[in-house]
Amino acid sequence: MADCEIKTPARSAVVTRYLVMPQHANPYGTVFGGIIMEWIDMVASMAAQRHCGMDVVTASIDSLAFENPVHIGDQVVLMASVNYVGRTSMEVGVKVVVEDLATGQQRITTRAYLTFVSIDKDHQPIAAPPIRPETADEKRRWDNAALRVRARKQLRGQVKNAT
Ligand SMILES: CC(C)(COP(=O)(O)OP(=O)(O)OC[C@H]1O[C@@H](n2cnc3c(N)ncnc32)[C@H](O)[C@@H]1OP(=O)(O)O)[C@@H](O)C(=O)NCCC(=O)NCCS
Repeated sequence: MADCEIKTPARSAVVTRYLVMPQHANPYGTVFGGIIMEWIDMVASMAAQRHCGMDVVTASIDSLAFENPVHIGDQVVLMASVNYVGRTSMEVGVKVVVEDLATGQQRITTRAYLTFVSIDKDHQPIAAPPIRPETADEKRRWDNAALRVRARKQLRGQVKNAT
């Protein structure tokens, strides 16, 4: 593949936002974690699809911690980019923040790491195109993702061996 055809993380990145409505919230007026998880899965899958230009499935989602509550009326901003590409799999990182409309200040709610696998017409894993991290942030994300990919594989191997 010619160098100019190799995509950067910036080229497939997705930024989207949602307004938190009453149907997203629990009786205390803060959003259900599962709603944020759905939005994370959606925005991350779009980044993975944009990178590989193929259908993808969610293989796994790493554990999530909600660092700050999100209230009805808040605007939630989700930023997703492909951190790492293996053979058929891609790790996508998602940062979720709440934006203060008066000041424009953003407060982190959660970070998530998801693995997608590109699939062919028969729903079988198929090679994803390589990615070229360019900026210092993209290179740092690649390095950190490579560590997580290795750790996930090790864990899956241990779990398989144990069952
Ligand atoms: C994800 C899926 C396609 C993997 O299929 P598989 O036959 O296990 O494929 P392989 O073992 O060849 O693995 C393919 C890639 O996925 C990665 N992978 C597989 N399971 C994984 C997991 N649990 N977490 C992270 N990565 C995983 C492998 O490391 C491999 O990556 P690589 O090609 O970059 O090295 C298959 O398990 C599947 O279809 N799952 C259901 C997906 C789905 O329906 N998601 C929606 C939510 S229910």
